[in-house]
Amino acid sequence: MTHIVTHSEKETLALAKKYAKTLRGGTILGLIGNLGAGKTVFIKGLASGLGLKKNITSPTFVIMKVYPVKKGKVKNFVHIDAYRIKEGRDLIAIGAQEYLNWPDTLTVIEWADRIKKVLPEKIRFIKIKILAGEKRKISLN
Ligand SMILES: Nc1ncnc2c1ncn2[C@@H]1O[C@H](COP(=O)(O)OP(=O)(O)OP(=O)(O)O)[C@@H](O)[C@H]1O
Ligand SMILES: [Mg+2]
Repeated sequence: MTHIVTHSEKETLALAKKYAKTLRGGTILGLIGNLGAGKTVFIKGLASGLGLKKNITSPTFVIMKVYPVKKGKVKNFVHIDAYRIKEGRDLIAIGAQEYLNWPDTLTVIEWADRIKKVLPEKIRFIKIKILAGEKRKISLN
């Protein structure tokens, strides 16, 4: 685990953008952190690193959004928000698990700790902790 402290939304976006460039398809990232920690901000940074022009908003009500990626090795960007998922089998019900096995898809899951049971072992967790004000401790590997 590497721990990085960011001091603004902008810094978190920049960190995630850089991090995105190191990721291959088939990667599953689980974002863990309290309400307002910056999980969605981090995911916006990832999307921008992949060259996605679309504005990424949290799929709280639809649970899952799939974005095609035009350039690079990653072909799909899947954003899942497990905040409203009560049980892992709900995730299976919406067909999300199918994406988790696609080798050219990068999947990111907010509140991944809520549905740990149904997630594959290869998931990489990213933890965001609110330190104070705009300071966030981001732990990743
Ligand atoms: N260092 C920072 N990194 C990221 N966001 C920050 C930082 N400092 C302040 N913020 C603010 O914190 C908020 C983070 O919101 P965001 O929606 O990303 O949180 P979240 O973890 O996705 O919350 P939720 O659990 O509701 O989905 C934004 O308003 C952002 O501007
Ligand atoms: Mg969010």
